[in-house]
Amino acid sequence: MENKVKVGIIGLGFMGTTHFQIHRQLGKSEILAVADVDERKTRGDWSSVVGNIGDMDYSKPVDMSGIKTYRDGFDLIADPDIEMVDICVPTYLHEKYAVAALEAGKHVLCEKPVGRSFDEAKRITEAAEKSGKFFSNGLCVRYWPEYRHAFELYKSGKLGKVVSAAFKRVSPSIHGNAWEDWFMKNKLSGSALLDLHLHDTDLVRYFFGRPRSVTSFGAQGFRSDEGIDHIFTNYNFGDGSLIMAEGGWDPAKATPFEMSFQIVCEKGTIRLSELGYRIIWEDGRVEEPKPAINELPTGWHVEIDYFLSSVQKGEKPEKYLTPGEIKDSMAIIEAEERSVKENRTVEVEYNGIL
Ligand SMILES: NC(=O)c1ccc[n+]([C@@H]2O[C@H](COP(=O)([O-])OP(=O)(O)OC[C@H]3O[C@@H](n4cnc5c(N)ncnc54)[C@H](O)[C@@H]3O)[C@@H](O)[C@H]2O)c1
Repeated sequence: MENKVKVGIIGLGFMGTTHFQIHRQLGKSEILAVADVDERKTRGDWSSVVGNIGDMDYSKPVDMSGIKTYRDGFDLIADPDIEMVDICVPTYLHEKYAVAALEAGKHVLCEKPVGRSFDEAKRITEAAEKSGKFFSNGLCVRYWPEYRHAFELYKSGKLGKVVSAAFKRVSPSIHGNAWEDWFMKNKLSGSALLDLHLHDTDLVRYFFGRPRSVTSFGAQGFRSDEGIDHIFTNYNFGDGSLIMAEGGWDPAKATPFEMSFQIVCEKGTIRLSELGYRIIWEDGRVEEPKPAINELPTGWHVEIDYFLSSVQKGEKPEKYLTPGEIKDSMAIIEAEERSVKENRTVEVEYNGIL
């Protein structure tokens, strides 16, 4: 049995409590410490935590005995026993904790978006490179079983070239739910554009490479103060393919969460929808695979399991996601934002290396 990774989690909201439970379920790590500005959460009272997907029951207190608790994330980072820091605070705080943890010689798994901007992403990935420690970002949809299956099938070449693809992610509105309603403040969260739609921008980058330009339209300032609450983007690869993504958090609170996609290729179509996951071949065959990765229930489990295994084995965690791709997706998102604001097609400036 390999050594358990000694973990500290900063931020115990929706994602921090989700990560906390996944660490316990996987059994590859030991949670040594948690930090949150809200003492109720570090004491185990998670009743105020709300998320947009999954069934959470935090009505009963969680047993936190044996876990060190901090109010300040920097105190957790200074704890010499901690090997890995799992950062789950609001997005605008990622950079300061990620850089400090890397400089303190810790491995870092940081929730997505990596930061509030491309420049923050650049500084964080540079700090990771300099530290020699492992870093990854919670772009969890790359690890989600159906998306992984579709990616591997598409990349195998069996389907031929892509003709069109459309990705969709629509969440019920989470206004008024989170800590200090930070999601609705565009400067802090980047609104639905960065917080939600980034997953699909990143998938477009993952499946098809770097788009040359983007043309986006957005609904702005309906839920958030001044951000993009719903977006449609066309990604231009200059090869005749039609690649689109839609993301939004504007629907009313009782609207179910939806993530779906359809990828049409020369020899078949892959579709994830409310009806399930299907491969529909041009010759009429229909397959309904039930992809599962190591019997883990969600992409979050696969992502955390992979990062912990990488730390245990001493192997860089870059099989599913590289620092260059993290930056690319941020560069594309910023081009999408400019496209909406300036009402024009915008060339993507990648400004970096792969
Ligand atoms: N990968 C995913 O599927 C996914 C889903 C939701 C959110 N996220 C991301 O996870 C991050 C956290 O989102 P969330 O939904 O958990 O938010 P949340 O509002 O539920 O939780 C944030 C937590 O951080 C705490 N906090 C605030 N400032 C702090 C500080 N300075 N030090 C320590 N704790 C502090 C708050 O008290 C709260 O408990 C965001 O970057 C978000 O974009 C990712």
